[in-house]
Amino acid sequence: MAEIAIETRDLNLWYGTFQALFDVNIQVKKGMITSLIGPSGCGKSTLLRTVNRVNERLGYVRTTGSVDVLGQDAFGEDVELARLRKEVGMVFQRPNPLPLSIRDNVLFSHRIHRGNVKASKSDEDVLLEDALRQVLLWDDVKDRLNQNATSLSLEEQQKLCIARLLPVKPSVLLMDEPTSALDPKATAALEELIWSFRGSYTILIVTHNMAQARRASEDCAFMLLGKMMEVAPTADLFLSPQLSETADYIEGRYG
Ligand SMILES: Nc1ncnc2c1ncn2[C@@H]1O[C@H](COP(=O)(O)OP(=O)(O)O)[C@@H](O)[C@H]1O
Ligand SMILES: [Mg+2]
Repeated sequence: MAEIAIETRDLNLWYGTFQALFDVNIQVKKGMITSLIGPSGCGKSTLLRTVNRVNERLGYVRTTGSVDVLGQDAFGEDVELARLRKEVGMVFQRPNPLPLSIRDNVLFSHRIHRGNVKASKSDEDVLLEDALRQVLLWDDVKDRLNQNATSLSLEEQQKLCIARLLPVKPSVLLMDEPTSALDPKATAALEELIWSFRGSYTILIVTHNMAQARRASEDCAFMLLGKMMEVAPTADLFLSPQLSETADYIEGRYG
């Protein structure tokens, strides 16, 4: 049986008095790509943001139940947030590179995590090249590493935003509609890249694009109104959904 990288148990979440997640149970398998689908507002982003605990920055968020990440209770009192956020990287809808050079973007988190213990230029060079190679950007940008990242195309920027997660050696990557700002060609390139990460990273990806979920995930989870309705291997979920709600959604009858 596949090892489990992320597991939520009876996870409930409230924004103030509004309940956004209801008894959510899901197991995300290690090294696999799991997509989260469901109509807008059903809680996909909220669920994603519980895994690295960024929801709680809001202050008015309350949760019950548990989230285990790599065998550790993410809400445990002894959890080190810095370590959790190193293990778990996140990519957003819009590419959001820092207004810095390509090089400084990729090395940014790594430098922060090292604090006062600076890495040597040659160690940084290795990390930089490795990260950019993993996202298939190295050949394109190796001669302009000092150029501002905002000069890159959107496709390149989003690849860069993935690359800059890698030097701190995460094992989980959370992606919230990472291609929604991209054109079809760039979307296909990103999907291919994400697919190539199978086996190396555990990926939980939110998408509103059914075709993308079908093509680019191994397991698929369908949410509705804050509830986890159905989780299954992607092919099964699309070919023989167990619930009428799932069937209605994937056939485009709502949302
Ligand atoms: N920061 C927030 N404060 C209050 N309510 C929020 C906040 N973020 C999301 N919500 C609400 O929680 C529900 C789930 O939102 P979200 O997780 O963003 O859904 P999805 O990503 O599936 O579109 C929605 O009703 C939304 O309005
Ligand atoms: Mg969302």
